[in-house]
Amino acid sequence: MPSPFDFFAPCPRGLESALAAELAEIAVRHLGQAAATGFERGAEVPGGVHFRGNWPIGMAANLHSRIASRILLKIAERPYRNEQDIYALAAEQRWEQWFSANETLRVDLTAIKSPLRSLEFATLRVKDGICDRLRSVSGARPSIDTAQPDVRVFAFLTATGCTLYLDTSGEPLFKRGWRLDKGAAPLRENLAAGILRIANWTPDTPFYDPMCGSGTFIAEAAQIALGVAPGVERRFGFEKLKQYDVAAWQTMKVAALDAKRAARTRKTDALHIFGSDISGDMLDKARTNLERAGLPPIPLKQLDARAITPPIATPGILILNPPYGERIAVRGRGPRGEERGMRDASRDREAGAPQRRELLDAPDTEFFQAFGDALKQRFTGWRAFVLTADRKLPGLLRLRESAKTPLFNGALECRLFRFDLVAGSVKSRPATDGTGQAGTPGN
Ligand SMILES: C[S@@+](CC[C@H](N)C(=O)[O-])C[C@H]1O[C@@H](n2cnc3c(N)ncnc32)[C@H](O)[C@@H]1O
Repeated sequence: MPSPFDFFAPCPRGLESALAAELAEIAVRHLGQAAATGFERGAEVPGGVHFRGNWPIGMAANLHSRIASRILLKIAERPYRNEQDIYALAAEQRWEQWFSANETLRVDLTAIKSPLRSLEFATLRVKDGICDRLRSVSGARPSIDTAQPDVRVFAFLTATGCTLYLDTSGEPLFKRGWRLDKGAAPLRENLAAGILRIANWTPDTPFYDPMCGSGTFIAEAAQIALGVAPGVERRFGFEKLKQYDVAAWQTMKVAALDAKRAARTRKTDALHIFGSDISGDMLDKARTNLERAGLPPIPLKQLDARAITPPIATPGILILNPPYGERIAVRGRGPRGEERGMRDASRDREAGAPQRRELLDAPDTEFFQAFGDALKQRFTGWRAFVLTADRKLPGLLRLRESAKTPLFNGALECRLFRFDLVAGSVKSRPATDGTGQAGTPGN
């Protein structure tokens, strides 16, 4: 029997294959082989993945996907030449089967190579089409609310085609519902989760983030290890729609809440997940976030990354995103040079950090050189994955990368560099442009 719905799951660019694999796993793991037979993997396109399935598959993707940004339900697709064609497509759809004029609405539109002159006008035409349709069947038009709408519709234009999607997620899925304080430059949760997957991390491998900040990598890793669903703390857009599979949703939600309760009582010494950061303030935020994410206490230390030692004898994986350029400066300096997270100098000394004066004067190159030395000298047998927008990072660390994967952190184009810290991983060539050979996907 063909699956009844077409879905599209947008994600950070570079994570499309990781997301496709994750969605296939979710269908089997959370719905069982029989129920998941309706799942069909679709095309991977830049910035997202198509798939087909029934409501439980769409709901399970919302609750369990760590990598998707949203789950969109395709409503209609047709060629267009002008704004009138777009209006007509929107006005023909049976929106009343999904929501009423009592719900507030927001319409967003994205376009690639569209010949239309004003995308703003095209967005208005989609909105008019939906509102006119609802008025014709119910006598009332929905109000627009761009801040906290009940229902979101996304229109996507190519050069010749227009697709209308109903958003089933509401707030984007990287908003897990546990982050209280964003910290200085938190990584989006779905990018962190995608990196864990690219790194092939599994819970039996020790994990260490030595610049853990607000704890995003740690929260994602620990939730994976303990079986806590990323969406257990939040609500979803589909819960406001007139139709979804309410019974299947209740069962899924109860199972996720049970798993979260069980996770809190688990012993953490079997987790092998560790974090450190030089800033005591950031560690306080991380601890609060981890607790709110339904996790038991996880060992976090205040430590300068140059002073780190393996937190466990078995080699594992280090994953980090160090401060970069104008977004945040290495060690306690904000974009305008002001100090951050340096409330207490005695706290910093305890952390093994060099003195404040020395830190503020030390250029980033010296920092990364010393950090690279710490990795080479003390982490033999470990693999390190570093997300950065700085293509020269391997040169700065004086390490040769074994792979690099292009990834987007919002609009910032980054590389995920992989370093295999085997004896002799020291670069044999002088630091140049940071490009490597082995296993490197194209730019
Ligand atoms: C880009 S943020 C990491 C964000 C983190 N992944 C998150 O999700 O919140 C970089 C972190 O490096 C920390 N940091 C800066 N200099 C450091 C140093 N010398 N040693 C250890 N951590 C440092 C900062 O305090 C900050 O939390």
